[in-house]
Amino acid sequence: MNKKNKGKQESKTVVITGSARGFGYEMAKVFKQHNYNIVLSDINNENLQKAKKEIERIVGYGKVKSVVCNVTDYKSIKNLLDETINTFSKVDVWINNAGVNQPNKPIFQLEQKEVDFLLNVDLKGTIYGSQIAFEQMQKQGFGQIYNVEGYGSNDAMMTGLSLYGTAKRAVTYFTMALSKESKELTKNKVKVCRLSPGIMITDFIKSANGGKTQIELSEKTKKAYNILGDYANKIAGYVVPKMVKNKKNNRQIIWLTKSRAFRRFLTAEFRKNKFFKVK
Ligand SMILES: NC(=O)c1ccc[n+]([C@@H]2O[C@H](COP(=O)([O-])OP(=O)(O)OC[C@H]3O[C@@H](n4cnc5c(N)ncnc54)[C@H](O)[C@@H]3O)[C@@H](O)[C@H]2O)c1
Repeated sequence: MNKKNKGKQESKTVVITGSARGFGYEMAKVFKQHNYNIVLSDINNENLQKAKKEIERIVGYGKVKSVVCNVTDYKSIKNLLDETINTFSKVDVWINNAGVNQPNKPIFQLEQKEVDFLLNVDLKGTIYGSQIAFEQMQKQGFGQIYNVEGYGSNDAMMTGLSLYGTAKRAVTYFTMALSKESKELTKNKVKVCRLSPGIMITDFIKSANGGKTQIELSEKTKKAYNILGDYANKIAGYVVPKMVKNKKNNRQIIWLTKSRAFRRFLTAEFRKNKFFKVK
């Protein structure tokens, strides 16, 4: 394609929930560089507007739209889809990224409202988003849905992360089950896939309950983050080109593979105080 015609090519459209900051925001930046139309969405409108301004500055042919959306509310996600279709007439990629961390407490100490809050965002939000995106993509005859895995998706367990791990383990099962349904119902035309970003140094790791509870990181956790963690922009720069090229249903895009983690432990000495000062 010559330079003159390149700008006239129709842009694809990506919707990312929870994209006012962190991983969702960083992925949006990279999709913009790939000439996608970007639909940013978040429960936090102030951050959302800031994010929109920043992403509009990034070079790329796509347009940027923002829609306030609370993923715990089915109607709010339906509105996100409707706004997207009204503006861009289709959705090529939908990423259920919005997520919250849990307070650093054992299971028996979690309050009922804390349990409900986390499961509503991390699990139900992903289920609702997948249902709504799937129905649209089935009608279109194409599209990709990505759900974001996290600690627990691979059965890992740790006191203080058990509820989060329960939700993320369920997200993994749910996503694989939906991809199987898609194989039968759409002959793999709708791709339902997983993103496994590893450990990201974002605001997420320091707060729970929608920012109301601060999380004190233990020395052990800080050490682990120093060795295995990365800033979200680095991980977004790795996963987005893979999504752009993906042609497979049930794909899992993993940043922190076993071999990458192994190499990190071998070079741990050089990453000692990378993000957090440790004793
Ligand atoms: N940070 C990590 O180490 C890590 C590791 C693995 C997976 N993840 C997952 O990656 C995803 C993004 O995490 P992050 O680190 O960027 O978090 P983050 O806290 O930096 O960003 C999450 C965004 O989601 C938004 N959000 C929260 N509740 C919402 C709701 N009800 N509706 C809509 N938006 C809502 C927040 O306002 C925020 O902008 C989450 O699903 C998280 O579980 C994070």
